[in-house]
Amino acid sequence: MTAIGAFKNTGKESLRDVLTRLDKEGAALGHFNVADQTLLRAVVAAGAETELPVIVGASEGEREFFGARQLAALVKSERQESDVPIFLNADHTHSLAKAIEAAKAGFDSVVIDFSALPFEQNVACTKEAVQAIKAINPAILAEGEIGNIGTGSEIHETAQGDPKTLTTPEEARQFVEATGIDILAPAVGNMHGMLQSMVQGKAKKHLDIERIAQIKQAAGVFLTLHGGSGTDDEHFRKAIAAGINIIHINTELRVAWRQSLAESLARDPNEVVPYKILQPVVDAVKQVVSSRLRLFHGEPAGAGAVGSVA
Ligand code: G3H
Ligand code: ZN
Repeated sequence: MTAIGAFKNTGKESLRDVLTRLDKEGAALGHFNVADQTLLRAVVAAGAETELPVIVGASEGEREFFGARQLAALVKSERQESDVPIFLNADHTHSLAKAIEAAKAGFDSVVIDFSALPFEQNVACTKEAVQAIKAINPAILAEGEIGNIGTGSEIHETAQGDPKTLTTPEEARQFVEATGIDILAPAVGNMHGMLQSMVQGKAKKHLDIERIAQIKQAAGVFLTLHGGSGTDDEHFRKAIAAGINIIHINTELRVAWRQSLAESLARDPNEVVPYKILQPVVDAVKQVVSSRLRLFHGEPAGAGAVGSVA
């Protein structure tokens, strides 16, 4: 268990440093996607509230909306004023050009996602992107992905992904060796997005814990769990103990964002001041992020998680 308050931002610790430390301590770094400044403020505020480091993430679509360089500048500025380390990840990057753009913009890591391609092509494209971003910034961390866990941090009608494509330890070993990635994102029963039953707290995602432990042993690199929204708390704890180092949460934030925005707008139809409408949204999303951060660091999660009340 990590001691709250033990993470001080000196401006010098790298993402690798923090991951190495957490790996030893049996905790995971929370990764939260942002599409606008309301979400960014919520993630940063949750890091400050819990005194725990965070990764701010943005997919290609989120970067397109926010502006990759603009987001990088804001996160850099937030980090300068933060007591805890804040990192920035280019999430689900499907082209060499977008990976290079993120590396040049100053992102700390890139998720190179060619997982929709056959294994050999995934290896070739991932390897090319790893070499390209490390040529720009040797300290950048490259994440690669194998298996099918579906796409879209949205509310889905049916389960995403393909249980037949769960990652095997041997595939993981080969993929890491052939590509030179620092972080692997396996398919271990996780899926992107939530079912309506998960939003209502009536169903939870379950993970193949044994497989995570075997993959960790075979791959020998940091592991990321994508599709974290709606996962059973106990499975999160076991997955971290089995070797998961980073956990991605997006849909839970989006659900909190939308619900709190609707409530805030409905509260006073004559309110037109953006910061008065949006502050409750920041607070609602912050509660979700803080709750997940505490859980990932072995603290009682507390209130706030989406679907925590059935
Ligand atoms: O990369 C982002 C995530 O994997 C988020 O998945 O929307 O199911 O939390 P989620
Ligand atoms: Zn993901």
